[in-house]
Amino acid sequence: MKVLVLGGDGFCGWPCAVNLADAGHDVMIVDNLSRRKIDIDLGVESLTPIATIGDRLKAWEQVGGKRIEFVLLDIAKEYDRLLDLLRCEKPDAVVHFAEQRAAPYSMKSSATKRYTVDNNVNGTHNLLAAIVESELDIHIVHLGTMGVYGYGSHRGATIPEGYLTVEVPQADGSRFTERILHPTDPGSVYHMTKTLDQLLFFYYNKNDGIRITDLHQGIVWGTNTTLTEKDPRLTNRFDYDGDYGTVLNRFLMQAAIGYPLTVHGTGGQTRAFIHIRDSVRCVQLALDHPPSSGEKVKIFNQMTESHRVADLAEKVAALTGAQTNYQANPRKEAIENDLIVDNSCFLELGLQPTTLDVGLLAEVVDVARRWADRCDRSRIPCLSAWTTRQAEAIAARP
Ligand SMILES: NC(=O)c1ccc[n+]([C@@H]2O[C@H](COP(=O)([O-])OP(=O)(O)OC[C@H]3O[C@@H](n4cnc5c(N)ncnc54)[C@H](O)[C@@H]3O)[C@@H](O)[C@H]2O)c1
Repeated sequence: MKVLVLGGDGFCGWPCAVNLADAGHDVMIVDNLSRRKIDIDLGVESLTPIATIGDRLKAWEQVGGKRIEFVLLDIAKEYDRLLDLLRCEKPDAVVHFAEQRAAPYSMKSSATKRYTVDNNVNGTHNLLAAIVESELDIHIVHLGTMGVYGYGSHRGATIPEGYLTVEVPQADGSRFTERILHPTDPGSVYHMTKTLDQLLFFYYNKNDGIRITDLHQGIVWGTNTTLTEKDPRLTNRFDYDGDYGTVLNRFLMQAAIGYPLTVHGTGGQTRAFIHIRDSVRCVQLALDHPPSSGEKVKIFNQMTESHRVADLAEKVAALTGAQTNYQANPRKEAIENDLIVDNSCFLELGLQPTTLDVGLLAEVVDVARRWADRCDRSRIPCLSAWTTRQAEAIAARP
């Protein structure tokens, strides 16, 4: 299969690209390297030292991997080049990771809000319009987020895989049932762009019959896969800063360097998680099981387990002896929430979930310890506030 991996230089995209090449697919990474540029703008670096994309690809070939091509292209701004690329390469599938993916970054300022909307929505729409114009039958696998469902109370209901069956009451007292997209409830500008993506997919699938799989992914933890461990130049990125670091990797890294675990609010927030190795495996399963012609957008909940943030902190503290620091929450969000998720689609396709075991948690702590001297402690606190109210609360932190 020929696969374009949009955003293949990023945290989820890089291990996915090498995994697909290892499985024998013809892989081309398309990336504008904006994530590396954002690191420079923010004055932070991945905790793990990451090689340039050129060195990554060279190293991959040197360890015996099938050659991966690279094209520097901005999918949100360079529509004509994207269309030409599709026409020329005629891929069977496109895996779309190429979005600004940090909720705190998206809430940093009106400039980052606007950038996130322009980049994510235009990028997705350009891809869809280009596929229509190319007249090619290309399967899109898109990385969405569990956050499209929202983290308010679901009143104990199980979140289905994308679609909800509802009963609609009629004036005469009768009812009919309908399968609709699950209502969205974004909690940040970033999450809002993912809900807009979902609607774009719904429309282009209905109007033009584009075959799409939308993966509502949980928070990804871990760093490397067995393939990215083959050579130091293949090492995956590890974000730990207040904008791009995600909760579990941050706790593990904080424990590794003796920094008190930064729990926001009460820690009653429940979130869905998936290990990077399972994320990679899920993308492969989605590519191997494309929707058939005329089929509605396939939506999978790409997560393996849910945890309360405070419970995660307790687990990491028990493993490492770390202290916990409950601090003012920069996000405007429910103090606590329930999150029961149906993930049977991937389980039925054979996914064997990698759950939070002590060995794997310790592995991440080891990676973080190895690179502890690269950590800039001043960049650990989350300072991007959702509203001025949260900004005031952060400013009053002891
Ligand atoms: N990391 C997580 O925990 C997580 C969780 C759920 C969903 N996701 C989704 O998975 C996808 C990938 O996330 P990630 O963690 O790898 O993020 P990342 O920022 O590490 O990678 C995204 C990549 O896309 C590239 N990119 C961004 N905009 C582009 C554009 N306009 N044109 C070309 N390339 C562009 C970036 O340079 C970067 O290499 C995102 O869409 C994200 O929303 C990630």
